[in-house]
Amino acid sequence: MIHDDVREVFVDEKEIQQICKRLGEEISRDYEGKEILALVILKGSMVFAADLIRYISVPLRLDFMQASSYGDGTKSTGIIKIKKDMDNSAEGKHIIIIEDIIDSGNTLFNIHKLLEDRGAASVNICTFLSKPSRREIDVDVKYIGKEVPDEFLVGYGLDFAENYRSLPYVGVLKPQVYAKI
Ligand code: IMP
Ligand code: MG
Repeated sequence: MIHDDVREVFVDEKEIQQICKRLGEEISRDYEGKEILALVILKGSMVFAADLIRYISVPLRLDFMQASSYGDGTKSTGIIKIKKDMDNSAEGKHIIIIEDIIDSGNTLFNIHKLLEDRGAASVNICTFLSKPSRREIDVDVKYIGKEVPDEFLVGYGLDFAENYRSLPYVGVLKPQVYAKI
């Protein structure tokens, strides 16, 4: 059972729904009279996005992008590699980037810039989790579900070596599980 590998639950299912409702209602108020292009950053954000969009009551189109930062893993080169690009044109759209977690901020800083360069009418970021103590680059995040400490989290879309995305809550794994890799 994947649940046996979890040491502690950080965000439970009830709190997840409360967060999604709060953010969805806030977005619906802020975007009244507009149509949103919700850009889901694969893969981790698909679980959060699926819950969040059902609380958004203004017209919305869905799109997906998969990106990874170039670099040695600890430092940003300021370049991102797009593994899968969005289908829609960004031009003139009111885009909300939907992200699972912001760590250094490098990925979102670059995607945000790319969408502005492509002529989006507006670009805002909605992240489920944020680790403010890890930020390396200043990125303006309009919607934050919850701020979390500097711990490696899994579940609700977040993976450890591609596993544990299917956990219905966010948690921390037992130290012996992390040590296996
Ligand atoms: P950033 O570019 O450093 O902000 O990286 C953000 C990405 O790193 C997220 O989209 C996740 O894929 C990954 N990430 C950051 N922290 C965690 C974590 O605690 N658990 C799982 N993935 C994480
Ligand atoms: Mg990831």
